[in-house]
Amino acid sequence: MRPILVRAGCAAALLAAGYAAAPAWAQDAARSLAATCTACHGTDGRSVGGVPPSLAGRDKGELLQTMKDFKTGKRPATVMHQHAKGYSDEQLELIANYFAGVTPGAAAAAPAARVNN
Ligand code: HEC
Repeated sequence: MRPILVRAGCAAALLAAGYAAAPAWAQDAARSLAATCTACHGTDGRSVGGVPPSLAGRDKGELLQTMKDFKTGKRPATVMHQHAKGYSDEQLELIANYFAGVTPGAAAAAPAARVNN
């Protein structure tokens, strides 16, 4: 009986703490998933020249709904249908939460560009 109570207590504490205090493994998982988007949407979701649009600092609910609409095909797309289908709804939520938490701003210059300047 006692171990079960202890485990329930831990789960309740995690829930009470909310996502901001999520364990490190959850934050690492979110960062790894989000990294698959940054080749096109820019480092940390800050896109270069706005194409495709930046994801950094966007509303979490809007990002999640857009991804779900890509997944079902409700929203037209060229490449995003394929990307969205590769993730569970839980993974899409982690990704949306990650980008919503990034401070928006200009993308940093690529390292090669900095060397030449
Ligand atoms: C191969 C490049 C590529 C990758 C990788 C990619 N995207 Fe996209 N994204 C696009 C393009 C291009 C669009 C414009 C819609 C289309 O044509 O599919 C887009 C559109 C979007 C939009 C809509 C933005 C808006 O304001 O209209 C969201 C949200 C989005 N992507 C999120 C993501 C997420 C999250 C990932 C990672 C799981 C991701 N994208 C990975 C290219 C990419």
